[in-house]
Amino acid sequence: MTNANEPWGNTVDVEFEDDIAFVFFNRPDKKNCMSPTLNREMYATLHALELDDRCKVVVLTGRGAAWSAGMDLKEYFRETDNESDNFKMRIREEAAAWQQVKLRYHAKPTIAMVNGWVFGGGFTPLVSCDLAVSSDDATYGLSEINWGILPGGNVTKSVADTMGQRNALYYIMTGETFQGQKAAQMGLVNESVPHDKLKERVVELARELMKKDPVVLRAAKEVFKRVRYMDYETANDYIYAKSDGSLYRSGAAFRSGAMKAFLDDKKLKPGLDTYKED
Ligand code: COA
Repeated sequence: MTNANEPWGNTVDVEFEDDIAFVFFNRPDKKNCMSPTLNREMYATLHALELDDRCKVVVLTGRGAAWSAGMDLKEYFRETDNESDNFKMRIREEAAAWQQVKLRYHAKPTIAMVNGWVFGGGFTPLVSCDLAVSSDDATYGLSEINWGILPGGNVTKSVADTMGQRNALYYIMTGETFQGQKAAQMGLVNESVPHDKLKERVVELARELMKKDPVVLRAAKEVFKRVRYMDYETANDYIYAKSDGSLYRSGAAFRSGAMKAFLDDKKLKPGLDTYKED
């Protein structure tokens, strides 16, 4: 349900359901391709959800037949071709701001719920989500080569991070499409399920994430995304710094309660289950 006070406009929509914010690419008639307006509205939406108590987990999905058909060839590319260099740089920055920063390091856990077409620029927000569940029916394509550009907007880096060299280069160079099961096999998404089970599986996953200490969970995902680019010594130091900082911010009650449940009360096997605060 939206109202005039919500930050999302026409190109983004949000539905709250049992502590999950379902965030929709909301241009179904344009296969949810990303215009400069959508990029600005998506940033504002994700930014607001960080402080919104109705949202414990963000699920990014699309209205209609597409998750997102990539960048808008008309509004993002052709209509800006004759604008100034600074204008073109500004709209790139606005796309990166939500896709590569706000979403990638979002305060809440994020799950991509991939319901349909994903092309080109759509791969960047897909990989920025912490986890991704695909419909078996979803169709993916690095279509840039089919219309004469390189996969920019860090699409190339996103697929290098998730799909591996052979797969990434194959799809970058051929522009062939693939389906949900193949996306899962390559590691682009965590898993692919029959379309009618998609939401059920995503909600189940979101529920699992909600059991964790949210401060430590946020630090854990941020640490993972940053340490990949650090050397061992720096990473070790950074991980302890973030770990100590997150325990301080969360009050460490979850950690000490879990240790008591395991070591003293013998009520918990943390290798097999999540600690539940009384
Ligand atoms: N940019 C701009 N407009 C797009 C778009 C995109 N990336 N993807 C879809 N649209 C628009 C179409 O132009 C069409 O607009 P219109 O109704 O005003 O003519 C509308 O969305 C519906 O798309 P259509 O092509 O008619 O739907 P379809 O079901 O036949 O095909 C796709 C769906 C996704 C296969 C096809 O639209 C497509 O190839 N889109 C481009 C995907 C792409 O290469 N994206 C990479 C960008 S980096």
